[in-house]
Amino acid sequence: MKPLSEQISDYLIPWKDMDWPLNPDTIFPSEMPVVLEIGFGDGSFLIDIATRFPDRNYIGIELAWDPIQRLFKKIERLGLENVRVLRCDAGQAMTSLFQHATFDEVFINHPDPWPKERHHRRRLLQREFIRAVALSLKAHGTLTIATDHADYAQWISEILESQEELGNTLNETRVSNLDGRIITRYQKKAQEVGIGNHFFVWKRQVPLGAEKPRDRKEDMPNVALNGQVDLDDVFAGFERQNFQERHRDVDVQINLVRAFKQHGESHYMVETMIKEGRLNQQIGVNVLILAGDKITIKTSAIGFPRATWGVKRALWHVSRMVLAKAPHLKIVNSTVGDLLE
Ligand SMILES: C[S@@+](CC[C@H](N)C(=O)[O-])C[C@H]1O[C@@H](n2cnc3c(N)ncnc32)[C@H](O)[C@@H]1O
Repeated sequence: MKPLSEQISDYLIPWKDMDWPLNPDTIFPSEMPVVLEIGFGDGSFLIDIATRFPDRNYIGIELAWDPIQRLFKKIERLGLENVRVLRCDAGQAMTSLFQHATFDEVFINHPDPWPKERHHRRRLLQREFIRAVALSLKAHGTLTIATDHADYAQWISEILESQEELGNTLNETRVSNLDGRIITRYQKKAQEVGIGNHFFVWKRQVPLGAEKPRDRKEDMPNVALNGQVDLDDVFAGFERQNFQERHRDVDVQINLVRAFKQHGESHYMVETMIKEGRLNQQIGVNVLILAGDKITIKTSAIGFPRATWGVKRALWHVSRMVLAKAPHLKIVNSTVGDLLE
C-alpha cells in the first residue's frame, strides 16, 4: 500500500492550487463523461459504479477525512484510474468550483437529515444548492437523490418541484424503489430496521446557458501608494474590524483579524477572513514599503487567495485604513476601486 502522502498526491484534487472553474479534463488521465457523488461516506457506491462503468470519470466530494482515507485504499486496491476526491464543503464546491454543464450525472445518497426543525437550515439540500447542482449538469444529465428520512424527502420534493432547471424522469416526484440501484450503507441500515427509502431522479432541462456566468479568473488586485510613512505608526493599536457587504445577491463578510509585523522589514501582513456565500478564504493582505516612498498593498501567497470580489474589498478596506492613518499618501494606482469614495 502506498504511503498516505502518495495517495493524496495521486487521488486528491488539489483544488486550492488550481484554476477555477476546475476543468475535469485536466484531472483525469483520459477525457470521459464525468459523474459526481456528493458526501460519499464509506465510498461503496462510488467504488461500485466506477468499477461497473469504467468508461466514465468519477469525482467524490466529502468533508470527513476518515472516509476519504478509506476510499483511497479501495481505489488503490482495485487500481482504479477514474476516481478522484475533492475534500471540500459541497456547498462551496457547487457554488464556486465548477463550470456550468460539467457533469453527466450527480448522485446525493442519504444526505444528513438534520431532523430537528431548528437545525433544518443546516440541511445541505437547500433551494440554492439544488439550483447550483442543476446548473452543473449537462443537458439531460441526471440528479439522483436518496434519503431514508420521510420529512427530508418531503422537503426535497418541494424544492425539486419548484425548480425550473430540473424535470422529473419518473411518474411521481419520488419513488420507494429504483430498479438496478446500488445499495449504500445508509440505505441498507434503513432497510434492515424497516424504514422506507425515497428516491428522486430528475434531469437537467434545456435550454442551457441563460444563467449568469461564473466570475472569471482575474488578476490579483493591488494598490500602489506613494509617500513617506512609518508602518509601525499605521498599525499601532490595530483592532479587529468586521464588514458586512452584499454583492450580486450574495452576503459577503470581511474580517480584518490581526496585523503582524514581518520582522526586520517595512512589511505588515493583515490576517483576513472572507466569507462570500459558501466560499471561505483565509488570506493575508500585505502592506509593504518597496523603496523609500513606494508602498504596495497586495495579497500574500498564504491561503492561495482567489481574486474574488470579497478579496478586492478586503484590499480596499486595508488601503482605506492605511490612508486614514496617513492621509498625505498619494494614490498611484488602485485595481480595487475608488479609494476616496
Ligand atoms: C449520512 S452520510 C451518507 C453516506 C453515504 N452517501 C451513504 O449513503 O452511505 C452523509 C455524508 O455526507 C458527508 N457530508 C455532510 N455534509 C457535507 C458537506 N457539506 N460537504 C461534503 N460532504 C458532506 C458526511 O461526511 C457523510 O459522509
